[in-house]
Amino acid sequence: MSNNLKVLLTGGCGYIGSHTAVELMRAGHDVVIADDLVNSSRSVLPRIEELGGRKPAFYEIDVCDMEKLDGLFAAEKPDAVIHFAGLKCVPESVEKPTLYYRNNLLSTMNLLEVMAAHGVKYIVFSSSATVYGESDVMPLREDMPTGACTNPYGMTKHMSEVIIRDTARARKELGAVLLRYFNPIGADESGRIGEDPLGIPNNLLPYVAQFAAGRRERLFVNGNDYPTRDGTCIRDFIHVTDLAKAHVKALDFIVGRSGCEVFNIGTGNGYSVLEVIEAFSKACGRELKYEFAPRRAGDIPTCYADPSKAERLLGWKAERGLAQMCEDTWRWQSANPMGYEK
Ligand code: UD1
Repeated sequence: MSNNLKVLLTGGCGYIGSHTAVELMRAGHDVVIADDLVNSSRSVLPRIEELGGRKPAFYEIDVCDMEKLDGLFAAEKPDAVIHFAGLKCVPESVEKPTLYYRNNLLSTMNLLEVMAAHGVKYIVFSSSATVYGESDVMPLREDMPTGACTNPYGMTKHMSEVIIRDTARARKELGAVLLRYFNPIGADESGRIGEDPLGIPNNLLPYVAQFAAGRRERLFVNGNDYPTRDGTCIRDFIHVTDLAKAHVKALDFIVGRSGCEVFNIGTGNGYSVLEVIEAFSKACGRELKYEFAPRRAGDIPTCYADPSKAERLLGWKAERGLAQMCEDTWRWQSANPMGYEK
């Protein structure tokens, strides 16, 4: 493992950022968080401290604000950056494309320029399996084509990957890792931090969890006529703690190296929407009654990773199965039915 590093987490108050902050601290690193709190809450900070055993430095800034970002780098002198900050709502990105392109691309470019100005050499980027678009071939491997994304959010992930890769070519000392996440769910096993989306959740697990907690009246399964084993979509759900640990391994890997490497971060197993609802019913101790509804526009039937490159080069492998993902989500949801205090 690399020595103690000071790691800047943009978007470190969010769902994946907060879990990664905790895992970095548990591995002995120091954490600095930059977050504008548009889709997160500052009340996660004392909980990160409680779980990680040290206090993260916190800057309430928008990464698109170059001056403030530069000030942060001057004050903190981080060794590495993990870039989570970004807008991530697919339907909103279809309605407001320029908002998504401006925010998600400007933040990435600002960071790369400020890193160069301050001699910071390492970046890990929060990418997504969405960059593969609608591939018929599964499992997805890192060398398969990317960029035919079906929505602006996905395009911003793809374009950020391109920008980072080109910057690593131009700035020879830069070491970059692109992590393509599959479907992160679950929560730290303490139940103290977890996913807390604004408004009605778009994604399956937070919706199911809120339904189980009585915050939502009805649970809809979108589509039961897909060419899959039970007719519902299949996804590669991965425990957020496993995902967070992949970032620690990615830093270990890239420190002392240069260039740009890309890794899928998934389990390699697909579970159907119905299998998830069944596993969640077991976790919360009550059968969750669902209704079938039409397909959601843009959903592909099946999506799962070939995660073998991450195992080979990072020494990382997902360890937690679907039952634990649902139990940990439920522990978080039932202890914090309304999420974080706002
Ligand atoms: C979605 C995003 C993807 C993003 C990922 C982050 C879309 C089209 N894609 O992926 O870009 O990277 O989240 O985790 O939004 N479902 C129901 N009922 C619900 C909610 C969802 O049946 O109430 C189904 C969906 O139709 C889908 C499956 O559950 O078949 C998973 O949905 P979701 O959790 O939104 O993930 P993805 O669509 O895979």
